[in-house]
Amino acid sequence: MKKIVVIGGGYVGLVSAAGLSEFGHRVTCVDIDNNKINQLNDGKIPIYEPGLNSLIESNCKKKRLYFSVDIEKEIKESDIIIIAVGTPQKKNGEVDLSYVKSVSKTISKSINKYKIICTKSTVPVGAGKMIEKILLKNNDITDFDYVSNPEFLREGSAVKDFLIPDRLVIGAKSEKAFSIMKEVYRPIYINETPIINTTIETAEMIKYASNAFLALKISYINDIANLCEEVNADVHEVAKAMGQDGRISSKFLHPGPGFGGSCFPKDTLALVQMGKKFNYPVKTIEAAIAVNQEQSLRMIEKIEYLLDNKISGKKIAVLGLSFKPQTDDIRESSATKIIPELINKGALVNAYDPVAIENFKIYYPNLNYFENWEDTVKDADVCVILTEWNEFRGIDLEKLKLLMSNPAILDSKNILSIEKLKKLDFKYENVGRKI
Ligand SMILES: NC(=O)c1ccc[n+]([C@@H]2O[C@H](COP(=O)([O-])OP(=O)(O)OC[C@H]3O[C@@H](n4cnc5c(N)ncnc54)[C@H](O)[C@@H]3O)[C@@H](O)[C@H]2O)c1
Repeated sequence: MKKIVVIGGGYVGLVSAAGLSEFGHRVTCVDIDNNKINQLNDGKIPIYEPGLNSLIESNCKKKRLYFSVDIEKEIKESDIIIIAVGTPQKKNGEVDLSYVKSVSKTISKSINKYKIICTKSTVPVGAGKMIEKILLKNNDITDFDYVSNPEFLREGSAVKDFLIPDRLVIGAKSEKAFSIMKEVYRPIYINETPIINTTIETAEMIKYASNAFLALKISYINDIANLCEEVNADVHEVAKAMGQDGRISSKFLHPGPGFGGSCFPKDTLALVQMGKKFNYPVKTIEAAIAVNQEQSLRMIEKIEYLLDNKISGKKIAVLGLSFKPQTDDIRESSATKIIPELINKGALVNAYDPVAIENFKIYYPNLNYFENWEDTVKDADVCVILTEWNEFRGIDLEKLKLLMSNPAILDSKNILSIEKLKKLDFKYENVGRKI
């Protein structure tokens, strides 16, 4: 059993803290956000993530998981310090490391015995060296090891991904640090999950190379989907056949309105910036970003087509505000790109999402929000599906037609039956299936 402090109680920090306590460690999750910590201490979970509530509840009961704002005290009392604060993107595309730097300074003042300082936040190659420098600068005690342990969990299945990952990546300079980290992940490691022990720089690069590759795959299938529309081919059949080739795999071959979320957009940009810094333009990822930006514009064009090029004054029902199903995270979601554009063009927007409305309201308070899809689509001129929540997959199309003032739909996630839409005489658009 190790004493661990996880700094940052967001999507990654909170899940990591809960997961590590499930592995038997005594974990405290700390955050500068008093409100978040108060909520957690009151038994309320500030994010929507399947399985997280029960994992937190059971580990709190077993007295293995705690929440606190007293960051320095928790650092002093811990053997392992995990940095899981945000690394958002600056206006120029580079990574904003200010939260990581600020945490590193706090840690450096509080090292009182040998500790492992481990970064789980996604940081560009070279950040590890920078963190080590900060740690050394403010303290006479140099008895620590720095470790890079990038996190690969996906929002929506974060608990499962943390507890049963495909692989672990540990960038460590000393054998001692690597073996301590192996012990931290003992339940995973005895299950024969591959543990990749590498240098700090390689660990940092693995995270960017993985995320950017997935984003590239999405942009690639979107490019193919757009071409399918021109040549009268069905992208679903194309993707299915491609995916049966083991070298390609079927994952991340789903066409749609473009990638979003808290990771792919900023991580692809960061990789491009890294390339520029080291005078090696990463052209494939530059292209993936460009295709992604154009993809949301194509969605606007599709909506314009469905409304005979008259968006102004039209009522548009948007279903799905989160960047993917099973999360309340709206960072860089399609809705955040498409809704402001529709409003600029004079549309009246009705919006619904099973869990993300409260987060969306913070940035877009003036939309007409509803509590179910039926009320959202009432008298709408067009319905736009932007997130593939299961409840939208199962929409009763006959009912939808009756409720709308005009039966027109953009199914940007290709989740509805084209045959049924055709039969009901919907005017419809999708991505790559204009057959
Ligand atoms: N969200 C994901 O799916 C995902 C997956 C893998 C990796 N990552 C990476 O993990 C990191 C965290 O992402 P996230 O989505 O959890 O971010 P988040 O914004 O949800 O959470 C970050 C938390 O850090 C806290 N924080 C900021 N400064 C702090 C400080 N000085 N001391 C204590 N707490 C502080 C914030 O209050 C916030 O609660 C990022 O680098 C991200 O790229 C995210």
